Amino acid sequence: MTKGLASNSAQAALLPEIKITPPGPKARSVIERDHAIMSPSYTRDYGFVMERGEGCVVWDVDGNRFLDLAAGIAVCSTGHSHPRVVEAIRSQAEQFLHMSGTDFYYEVQVKLAERLAAHAPIPGPKRVFFTNSGAESIECAIKLARHHTRGHQMLAFYGSFHGRTMGALSLTASKNIQRRNFGPFLSGVVHVNYQQPVESIERDVVKRVVDEGNFAAVFVEPIQGEGGYIVPDRQWLLDLQDMCRRYGILLVADEVQCGMGRTGKMFASEHFGLEPDIICTAKGIASGLPLGAVIARADVMNWQPGQHASTFGGNPVACAAALATVDLLEESLMANATEVGSYLIERLKQLAQEVGCLGNPRGLGLMIGIDALDATGRPSPEVRNEIVKRMFFEGVLILGCGAHSIRFCPPLVLQREQVDYTIEALRRVCQSL
Ligand SMILES: Cc1ncc(COP(=O)(O)O)c(C=O)c1O
Repeated sequence: MTKGLASNSAQAALLPEIKITPPGPKARSVIERDHAIMSPSYTRDYGFVMERGEGCVVWDVDGNRFLDLAAGIAVCSTGHSHPRVVEAIRSQAEQFLHMSGTDFYYEVQVKLAERLAAHAPIPGPKRVFFTNSGAESIECAIKLARHHTRGHQMLAFYGSFHGRTMGALSLTASKNIQRRNFGPFLSGVVHVNYQQPVESIERDVVKRVVDEGNFAAVFVEPIQGEGGYIVPDRQWLLDLQDMCRRYGILLVADEVQCGMGRTGKMFASEHFGLEPDIICTAKGIASGLPLGAVIARADVMNWQPGQHASTFGGNPVACAAALATVDLLEESLMANATEVGSYLIERLKQLAQEVGCLGNPRGLGLMIGIDALDATGRPSPEVRNEIVKRMFFEGVLILGCGAHSIRFCPPLVLQREQVDYTIEALRRVCQSL
């Protein structure tokens, strides 16, 4: 077993075991109560009702065991309830639970900021602002970019997902349902295609559409997540950065999904040699506790006391969990993501050659996407949805992304044996379609 992988999973079986067709009676009862009381805006593809988890393995309330390749949407980076993360949380909880960093000081927050800044591929001195979520990190970046440049125009990309609060939603352009009936949005946001040649962005947007001197920021996901797990061309990202530098536009990397070790490096930007002015992160940062961080060039994060703050952002318990997370990522989990991620891609490639319903896999580390295809070889949302659903009955939790892709964003403790099971399950599902 790779050093640092959840040691308690040694005692637990690593593979799925379905004892009763899910959702079983206990799960159905929770689902029924959920449907009666919870907001109907949540999107549930199948009826998994969680009881507990360990590493990449999760149990439902009826005693079924599943392999979790979704990790709470790329969040449980160190695996479910990693003992070292749990211990860090317990130990901090015994000291104190909260003491707003807005008004007071505590070392665990400073330590985490120092660790994140040391990893961030931003040249020169850096500063850090803590939030509670991805959307909050984006809101912070929007305000910071406006404050620093005194401009308000922003560029984002079709297919991008930046969150659902009103500022972040103004940048999001993934699915229509996410924006429908919520306008008007922030003014000054222009969307173009992801990987649209920078020459044409410069010609058509920067020079024609946007008022000169009023352009605050370009928001880009270094790997597009919700939009389909798309790894862009390295040169495209570098050209975008170059355009930003030439016009004094801030480059904001939304690393909420692709950051914190998921791609095998702490920040996905590092794969491309990207040096953003601002990096937004959240999701995997604290292994499941709500936390986000915005890391920026110190001369960009130069606002005054009172201009931005958050009661809960950088909560000490979440910061302690994040410090343990960063330790584990550095010690072994980024290396494991690289190694097991390449293995998963390789196995998916082989499988795609055998079955007709899968396209070419793509991704970095353990951020991997693959298209579902219909009988004529065209990308198909229906086939994707069916595969995702049938994998649940095989005991594997996966999610879709984009219009017709399947995403694999497991805990970074995933093991080869679990990849092998996934491939066999996927083969059975593809052959059953
Ligand atoms: C790239 C990206 N940015 C921002 C967000 C929003 O994060 P949150 O749901 O924590 O607000 C997400 C969530 O999926 C995301 O993938």
